[in-house]
Amino acid sequence: MEELGVKRRIVLVPVPAQGHVTPIMQLGKALYSKGFSITVVLTQYNRVSSSKDFSDFHFLTIPGSLTESDLKNLGPFKFLFKLNQICEASFKQCIGQLLQEQGNDIACVVYDEYMYFSQAAVKEFQLPSVLFSTTSATAFVCRSVLSRVNAESFLLDMKDPKVSDKEFPGLHPLRYKDLPTSAFGPLESILKVYSETVNIRTASAVIINSTSCLESSSLAWLQKQLQVPVYPIGPLHIAASAPSSLLEEDRSCLEWLNKQKIGSVIYISLGSLALMETKDMLEMAWGLRNSNQPFLWVIRPGSIPGSEWTESLPEEFSRLVSERGYIVKWAPQIEVLRHPAVGGFWSHCGWNSTLESIGEGVPMICRPFTGDQKVNARYLERVWRIGVQLEGELDKGTVERAVERLIMDEEGAEMRKRVINLKEKLQASVKSRGSSFSSIDNFVNSLKMMNF
Ligand code: UDX
Repeated sequence: MEELGVKRRIVLVPVPAQGHVTPIMQLGKALYSKGFSITVVLTQYNRVSSSKDFSDFHFLTIPGSLTESDLKNLGPFKFLFKLNQICEASFKQCIGQLLQEQGNDIACVVYDEYMYFSQAAVKEFQLPSVLFSTTSATAFVCRSVLSRVNAESFLLDMKDPKVSDKEFPGLHPLRYKDLPTSAFGPLESILKVYSETVNIRTASAVIINSTSCLESSSLAWLQKQLQVPVYPIGPLHIAASAPSSLLEEDRSCLEWLNKQKIGSVIYISLGSLALMETKDMLEMAWGLRNSNQPFLWVIRPGSIPGSEWTESLPEEFSRLVSERGYIVKWAPQIEVLRHPAVGGFWSHCGWNSTLESIGEGVPMICRPFTGDQKVNARYLERVWRIGVQLEGELDKGTVERAVERLIMDEEGAEMRKRVINLKEKLQASVKSRGSSFSSIDNFVNSLKMMNF
């Protein structure tokens, strides 16, 4: 930092996945603007772009032999578990070398909660470290609770519809089935990874990409349980927007949106990991077509199992979409949500998409796929009351009705009012004297004083 006469370095350790890369790189930008230099440590399985947008950052790669096909074969949880085992020693070596070459200028290591291998190095070199949670505070609370359950009896509860539909004690309004279990692998391996992510070990603080106006009680819970400062500094995409798209954005959809009526379009996107079955896509296409509303649909290559892109979909799908829809492989999502033609967002409810939709004042149709998305969907519908959740089998009638509720009905108008109100609160929180603004300042001050 300038006043100490040395520019101090912050080392970031991202998870190589879009939903995690985006917020950590935004955090990097925010900390860079406060005078820190930023080093990003990547694993060889690398999905972070060191493009011109981050030309001020320093990038290092540590050896690790996992590949894209390992991710496919192992699934994300076993993959992460293995990645953490493989990277522990090489990260230690990398930090040791950095300290030798650059002098002792590391202010702290900020690691994604899923990259807990970082802790071995910070312990060895006695560096301050900070855990960065890219999901919601409520999802963190749920992972903490889940990490303490007995896997066998929880599995039995989840299989019993009478129990899985019930509220989970102490987590109102979340039901058993809303807890962040995953479609990606057996419960045991998920709980194993969760208990690692919520174990803060020697971390001196926790940063969360959220804000008190959205999650005050979950933040208070964490503050009490973790016994280190918790800094809610989000939404980072408003506080420190920094492009970090891993796929090429198709901007032609913005021209298509220009031709649509204000508030009429349903934007559909399922983020960077969720998959969709052909049967469900057909029901969606029928329901959307029958609703008579235009729709912009992001179909990510590889998101339909067994298909490169859309080639396995029947002719019927293209016919339905061609009437009122527009398809792209990847969209400039925030610009799309900001476009006046967009009236609703059909989302898998990833935390970034949730924050981005609220940040642009767009109500949502919630169709969570897995993990924390189920928690976010329940909050969107029941706590913030700005979304309609679709549960169970998808059928065209339910899809059509959900679009009507959101776009045409009084209920949708009320949701729009509430989400616009929240949007204003989010914007206020990242402005001078707002809660997230002050939180990031407090974090930086603690770093300067080294008094975590
Ligand atoms: C993953 C998890 O699935 C999610 O639940 C968790 O909260 C974060 O990590 P992902 O599924 O990719 O993330 O969803 P999300 O968090 O919504 O992030 C997707 C990002 O991709 C958003 O920032 C969104 O703006 C961006 N995006 C998505 C685009 O830029 N263009 C698109 O077409 C689609």
